[in-house]
Amino acid sequence: MPLHQQKISKKIFPNVTVHLYDSIDSTNNEAKRRADNDRGLHLYATMHQTAGRGRRGHDFYSPPDTGLYMTLALPLSAKPEDVQILTCAAAVCVCEAVRELSDQKPLIKWVNDIYLDGKKTAGILTELVTDSKNQPVAVIIGIGLNLKTERFPKEFAATAGNLGDIDPDLLCAEIVNRLCGCAYALPRKDFLEKYKKWNLCIGRTVTYTEDGMLHTAKAVDIDSDGGLVVEENGALTTLNSGEISVKAEGISLRSDN
Ligand code: BTN
Repeated sequence: MPLHQQKISKKIFPNVTVHLYDSIDSTNNEAKRRADNDRGLHLYATMHQTAGRGRRGHDFYSPPDTGLYMTLALPLSAKPEDVQILTCAAAVCVCEAVRELSDQKPLIKWVNDIYLDGKKTAGILTELVTDSKNQPVAVIIGIGLNLKTERFPKEFAATAGNLGDIDPDLLCAEIVNRLCGCAYALPRKDFLEKYKKWNLCIGRTVTYTEDGMLHTAKAVDIDSDGGLVVEENGALTTLNSGEISVKAEGISLRSDN
């Protein structure tokens, strides 16, 4: 079942050009390929990716017809350090859009994962696009959402879940509209309050590896750049990269899928 151009275009901000695909390797790849020609605001979306990518070189499972895979390209000359805060903004927009269109109340696992009932249901991959002179020309925000996906490859089977039967066209437009608003008001960082409120890490024990050492700490806050502030043996450290595992209700939430 493909996405519907007219239905999305009716709801989405008119200055966003919409590109839909029955199937594509990766909407982030497509946004990068077209970056030289597609200046301005562009949405690339599909319900099937053959080579969906996640953070840290992971694949993102994107089977046909049961999920929404979308990339919004924004003509912002962002710096590498802006990627984290843009990802936080996108996470809040996804949660708000899901709340608007369903009864579900998803939560965020720092930095880019959306969880529902202890399962990862969506992920975000923000990337910078540069021109031939290595100058930043755009930011692309790729979002993959499991909607009705029930069967996952066995490596994700225990940790992946879905957001339920939400209309993918409406969800796509809702996320894009929110994200456009958020991205242009980025310096205000209004979304951080919700990013903290809906974050399942805060107040919980997290583990992470740094310089080959395993750390066990308590997540206490999100800083103004979207970093995760953790406390270990009375000392505060801010994490700005890497993966964490969270201990929640006796289960371990990892984010590799
Ligand atoms: C993650 O969980 O590590 C991030 C997943 C991001 C997946 C989305 S799906 C749309 C866009 N295209 C991709 O290839 N990746 C992102």
